[in-house]
Amino acid sequence: MSYFALIPAAGSGSRIGAASPKQYLPLLGKPMLHHSIGCVARAPIETVFVVLAPGDAAFAQHDWSAFGGKVEPLYCGGGTRRDSVLNGLVAAMDVVDADDWVLVHDAARPCLPHADLERLIDEVSVDEVGGLLALAVAETVKRVALGVDAAVADEVRVECTEDRSRLWLAQTPQMFRAGLLAQALRDARGVVTDEASAVEMLGLHPRIVRGSRRNLKVTFPEDMAIAESMLGQE
Ligand code: CTP
Ligand code: MG
Repeated sequence: MSYFALIPAAGSGSRIGAASPKQYLPLLGKPMLHHSIGCVARAPIETVFVVLAPGDAAFAQHDWSAFGGKVEPLYCGGGTRRDSVLNGLVAAMDVVDADDWVLVHDAARPCLPHADLERLIDEVSVDEVGGLLALAVAETVKRVALGVDAAVADEVRVECTEDRSRLWLAQTPQMFRAGLLAQALRDARGVVTDEASAVEMLGLHPRIVRGSRRNLKVTFPEDMAIAESMLGQE
């Protein structure tokens, strides 16, 4: 049984609103994707598959030699994150066996601490289902009226307050056996924004492994400075 990483990197980064796709924006002089690959390109991961948009011209213009041949680009990204991960998984099945572990990691999480990766692998390697890094919600959580988009509405009002004690924020990596994950993503219905939710639709309960706030998902323009400052402290 082996361990592989798969990084979906075929998004456009609409919320960050930059001229180039988010994964290529520079952090400390290197593309964000370089840092995210670096977070997972270590033992015991054998190969890091990077799923790119079919027309991606940027990947080939950067230097990935720091990873010594461990990185394998797959130009089969799809219209949603789920499609990108499933297409990448299908392409990787030439070398990945159904029983092998796959760690799916966002290109947009360049600050994943090594200790978090180790904790995930330690705890999930002995799990029947698989699991993910996640963070207990720290803030009080409000639910607003259905269909209200806080970014564009003039006025947003609270409908109720959620019980945050049972709420966790899903991070990546999310670690599942390749065969189970491919089946889950293929069968998934509706909006699927992470691998665990597809596995949940099979009636399974992925294991939560404690993550950390350092594993920020770079989403909005102000996240770039936070990510850069954390990378600078390493
Ligand atoms: N992703 C992907 N294929 C898609 C959409 C997203 O591979 N069709 C990847 C992104 O490149 C990113 C990860 O999924 O590494 C998490 O997605 P997100 O942070 O939402 O990135 P974007 O979709 O690019 O950003 P936005 O939602 O703001 O447009
Ligand atoms: Mg997105």
